[in-house]
Amino acid sequence: MTILNFGSINIDHVYRVEHLVRPGETIASSDYRQFSGGKGFNQSIALARAGASVSHAGRIGGDGVWLREQLAGEGADVDFLEVVDSPSGHALIQVDAGGENAIILFGGANRTFTQEDARKILDNFGAGDWLLLQNEISAMPEILRLAGERGLRVVFNPAPMGAEVLDYPLDGVSVFVVNETEGEAFTGETEPEAILAGMRKRFPDATVVLTLGAAGAIYDDGSQRIAVPAQKVEVVDTTAAGDTFIGYFLAGLAAGDDPKSALETATRAAAICVTRPGAAPSIPRREEVTSEQ
Ligand code: RIB
Repeated sequence: MTILNFGSINIDHVYRVEHLVRPGETIASSDYRQFSGGKGFNQSIALARAGASVSHAGRIGGDGVWLREQLAGEGADVDFLEVVDSPSGHALIQVDAGGENAIILFGGANRTFTQEDARKILDNFGAGDWLLLQNEISAMPEILRLAGERGLRVVFNPAPMGAEVLDYPLDGVSVFVVNETEGEAFTGETEPEAILAGMRKRFPDATVVLTLGAAGAIYDDGSQRIAVPAQKVEVVDTTAAGDTFIGYFLAGLAAGDDPKSALETATRAAAICVTRPGAAPSIPRREEVTSEQ
């Protein structure tokens, strides 16, 4: 069972601040660290640590070769991860005293994919394979279109959400994983129940997982609704919590777990992630997640 994760890879520059900087303000940080990250990269690490077989298609510059080594070291296939003549993507991340973050992205190598590049990669995959996507790389409409034509099972996490997403060819998406902001952008609704109803109306054949941070997650595939609470933990840094959830959830689905058990495992993994600093390095291994049960 192949899971292709076609996604971003970033170098995260993380600053600890008392509060997130306000317009016109200059503030000092109390700590600075560099981590591996990128929503795509984090989700591949989560998949690999959850025990899934994942192939990561992505791009880095010469400054990011260490990221490819890190991914390969976790057991992910990196045959479709290229080094190109562009700086790697990076993120400037502020983390405040409560563990909340604010992120500025620079796309770099992540945004060098053309329609032709997308086709060459997807030529290697077909019906029955899983394709995991976020929204930090270029050529997204083409990737979605080709995936639909080839019968891939597409799991789409529309993050970061932008107006362009609403014009993507999304009819072939099997599973949407959205937070409340992303759900609101699709539906115009702000309450969880209304978001789920709006998503069902707009995408009647898709499964929707709505993540609610400290309030857990809700799964709705049209025939069953499952709500899972989040664990209560001491929050250090919420960065990559959503990515951890998605990687673990998809690993469970791909392994044939029932949705409730996949959701519960994913929620436990995300709870561990927020107790640690950084993005990819904060993602727990399966043994840690299962020993919490
Ligand atoms: O979801 C967290 C990630 O968002 C960070 O690792 C950062 O690189 C951005 O992509």
